[in-house]
Amino acid sequence: MKKIFILITLLLLTSVSYANRQLAVRNGCMGCHADTEYDAPPWPELAAKYAKFKDQPDAARLQGEKLRKGKLFTKIKAHQKLTPTNATELMQWIIDGAH
Ligand code: HEC
Repeated sequence: MKKIFILITLLLLTSVSYANRQLAVRNGCMGCHADTEYDAPPWPELAAKYAKFKDQPDAARLQGEKLRKGKLFTKIKAHQKLTPTNATELMQWIIDGAH
């Protein structure tokens, strides 16, 4: 019984992270962040940078907002086009390691 429970938990966990990677694919994030030809930091680098927010409950939403707003000289369409919900989910995915 316990084994089945663990299996189900694992399945749930993997499907959740898969869903968020899919969200990144659907929002065109891979075009830049999964290809080293571009200047965009790769996922592991972003995950390392954002890991510090792990224990902060509202961090994904706040960082998502920041990403959508962009910085003074780096406005990226794919970032700006995100809905608040998607931005939060994607930031949570990155904070959790971007697997
Ligand atoms: C057109 C290329 C491009 C696409 C598409 C793109 N990005 Fe980026 N992204 C960049 C570049 C370049 C940077 C580094 C410049 C910067 O810090 O703003 C960056 C930076 C980031 C950062 C770090 C921002 C910071 O200041 O710490 C995050 C997080 C991020 N992108 C997430 C995403 C997500 C999620 C998507 C999909 C919606 C996405 N990006 C799509 C080019 C892109």
